[in-house]
Amino acid sequence: MDMQVVPARKGNYNLQDYEKLRESFSWEDVKKNFTWNTTGKVNMAYEAVDRHATDPAKKDKVALLYSSPEREESMTFEQLSQESNKFANVLKKYEISKGDRVFLFMPRSPEFYAAFFGILKVGAIAGPLFEAFMEQAVRDRLQDSEAKLLITTPDLLYRVPLNELPKLEKIVLVGGNKEDTNKFIDYNKEMKEASINFSIEWVDLEDGMLLHYTSGSTGKPKGILHVHNAMIQHYATAEWVLDLKEEDVYWCTADPGWVTGTSYGIFAPWLHGVTNVIRGGRFTPDDWYTTLEKNNVSVWYTAPTALRMLVSYGEEAVKKYDLDTLRHILSVGEPLNPEVITWGLKAFDLRVHDTWWMTETGAQLIVNLPSLEIRPGSMGKPIPGVEASIVDNEGNEIPPNQMGNLAIKEGWPSMMRQVWNNPGKFESYFINGWYVSGDSAYQDEDGYFWFQGRLDDVINTSGERVGPFEVESKLIEHPAVAEAGVIGKPDPERGEIIKAFITLNDGYDDTKELLEDIRQFVKTGLSAHAAPREIEVKDSIPKTRSGKIMRRLLKSWELGLPTGDTSTLED
Ligand code: WTA
Repeated sequence: MDMQVVPARKGNYNLQDYEKLRESFSWEDVKKNFTWNTTGKVNMAYEAVDRHATDPAKKDKVALLYSSPEREESMTFEQLSQESNKFANVLKKYEISKGDRVFLFMPRSPEFYAAFFGILKVGAIAGPLFEAFMEQAVRDRLQDSEAKLLITTPDLLYRVPLNELPKLEKIVLVGGNKEDTNKFIDYNKEMKEASINFSIEWVDLEDGMLLHYTSGSTGKPKGILHVHNAMIQHYATAEWVLDLKEEDVYWCTADPGWVTGTSYGIFAPWLHGVTNVIRGGRFTPDDWYTTLEKNNVSVWYTAPTALRMLVSYGEEAVKKYDLDTLRHILSVGEPLNPEVITWGLKAFDLRVHDTWWMTETGAQLIVNLPSLEIRPGSMGKPIPGVEASIVDNEGNEIPPNQMGNLAIKEGWPSMMRQVWNNPGKFESYFINGWYVSGDSAYQDEDGYFWFQGRLDDVINTSGERVGPFEVESKLIEHPAVAEAGVIGKPDPERGEIIKAFITLNDGYDDTKELLEDIRQFVKTGLSAHAAPREIEVKDSIPKTRSGKIMRRLLKSWELGLPTGDTSTLED
């Protein structure tokens, strides 16, 4: 099947000549854009906020254009700088210092962004948590990271199991307070009293900045540590891939609990001093179109799931809105269906640009650049300064058009520096000088990469990574469940949905009510996006003789595929 390519259109793109830049490229040149390149004083918060706040031409420019169904507010770079200074002073007062882990567990709001940069300004490591997490997800992350301080809201506090978190010294509450002032800090009160001046903590490029937890196929979620050095790649990709220019209004729809919401919802636009739209509340097609229209968004970074929902909502809906300012659309997180690209051309008269990367990689690596043709279904080509390839299990490159491990040559600026408390896990990503992603793909003769699937059991549901082990562990905590095996089942809208196979303990019957109860148990214990949409009761769950659940076999059964090698199957 020969897919129609979508040629690049004429335009004034930041990156015109991909091949030429690749040849002459050096990350050293990108470093020249940063203040620290001459002063030696490093901090992401300085480069993304204070640098603009101290620039007379930029300080009154709107940095944050926030809205939610309940609230609308904007902040200039100067205001964002002052608010984050205030919060840095609060943190300092409570003895938070360089290297401490400070977590945020709250909805997107202006306070979130002020607090986030406050954390970086004291040199601490920020850990943003997705607001939909329930107790266990919150506990696992705060325990593993040994977080010292948490910023949350009174509404979310019931999901924070304080008695299981001995290392958590203080909790800052945004919008209310508790009586126990030894433990709880009133955000509003402290911010009123705090000074707008703060001397930023200068750090090293290799110092920890951000901790994002993400799921693998085994074990609990792992903490991926990013360092200030990542800004080099955020800056470069914002220019080449997002094509950001001074006058753009940019909207990244991702929540800062996920890496897209920090690398591209915070750092990339603000390193360039671009106005950044943040929309709180739930997704609906009309809400999103209204957000694009009302804010005159020009560059929009979103995800295939959302785009597929917009496609099914219909092309007519788009016509009701005036989206003339929109000039560049990008996507990340799951395979981008060629149908979405076709629809984008019809509905917006724009191409949708796929980008591939991971929590671990910190920034975009394989992308569809504005100046290159798009081959629908392909993730595009590696950015300048990055070498990508397809390797076998020993880390040897394999020829074009053959499927294998998608791998990246070690050494790009935004690479994770640690898996928190787990050096062995960190090492296991690297083979023969390559970072091996866990995705399978092939490369065509012209260097375009084509995603094929995950090589492990990690599930990607609506662009969110879910580890089957976490869901299985939660399922078997339910009194009715004896064993559980969890897989991703293909779904036209969500990419995959979570399907659980379970066996029941004696005395429990396979009823609709019980299955719904089990579903709710995962939803309220772990998080809504990790709750299985389908649960099927079995007499047994297939396991290897060493007791590992054979998820691959469950998947083959589910899809009616040949079951392959079952020689390790237990009797
Ligand atoms: C998948 C999100 C196909 C992939 C930034 C990867 C993609 C995982 C794409 C990382 C894409 C991401 N096409 N699949 N353009 N982008 N993925 O850590 O399986 O939440 O390994 O990072 O999402 O998900 P993560």
